[in-house]
Amino acid sequence: MPGLFITFEGGDGSGKTTQIKLLTSWLEAKNKIVVVTREPGGTDLGNEVRHLVMHRKGFIAPRAEALLYAADRSHHVQTIVRPALDRGEIVVQDRYFDSSIAYQGAGRVLDTDEIRDLSAWATEDLVPHLTILLDVSAEVAKLRRSRPTTDFDRLEAEDENFHNRVRESYLALAKRDPGRWLVVDGEITVEKIHAQILAKVALLLE
Ligand code: TYD
Repeated sequence: MPGLFITFEGGDGSGKTTQIKLLTSWLEAKNKIVVVTREPGGTDLGNEVRHLVMHRKGFIAPRAEALLYAADRSHHVQTIVRPALDRGEIVVQDRYFDSSIAYQGAGRVLDTDEIRDLSAWATEDLVPHLTILLDVSAEVAKLRRSRPTTDFDRLEAEDENFHNRVRESYLALAKRDPGRWLVVDGEITVEKIHAQILAKVALLLE
């Protein structure tokens, strides 16, 4: 695969959006073609799924939720991500299958191996070259989420234990596969986080 696939992960309010913008500007200044995208969403179908999983009122069975994210992912990979990588472009993506392992696996307490297998099937085993985890403590994440709770999406509205399980799951995933993951302390300054990300990406570009 000629392109480069970089994903960002972290809890709600970990600062991914800011870092994705900074990384993208840096890559574009180096004349790279960058596709910036996200899950859920990133396609028309994906945006409909996004609305369902994030804003639908009422209960969604955990396995149904996992399947909806997987359906979004499958369509997104086949129609956006793989074609871009095949053209040799750089895909910078907000969330990928590790979100499902952390949120549906550890958060909703589904079997994490089954969630991983489901995503592997959905994506025909497309694994990122680099996954950047912006790690923030539960306290900071809570502060950053401090807006009216009525604005929260279904996942954000989960309790602190849920968000702690998500965080621990991310850290465990990163520990198990240090070759793919870069863990950055999300509580240091925006500039310092950006510098750590650049150092890693620059190595990959060489
Ligand atoms: P988003 O607005 O992208 O959140 P953030 O800005 O915090 O990244 O919302 C995506 C929400 O969906 C987020 O709460 C995490 C959740 N999610 C899952 O539960 N499973 C998944 O597989 C994905 C991709 C996201």
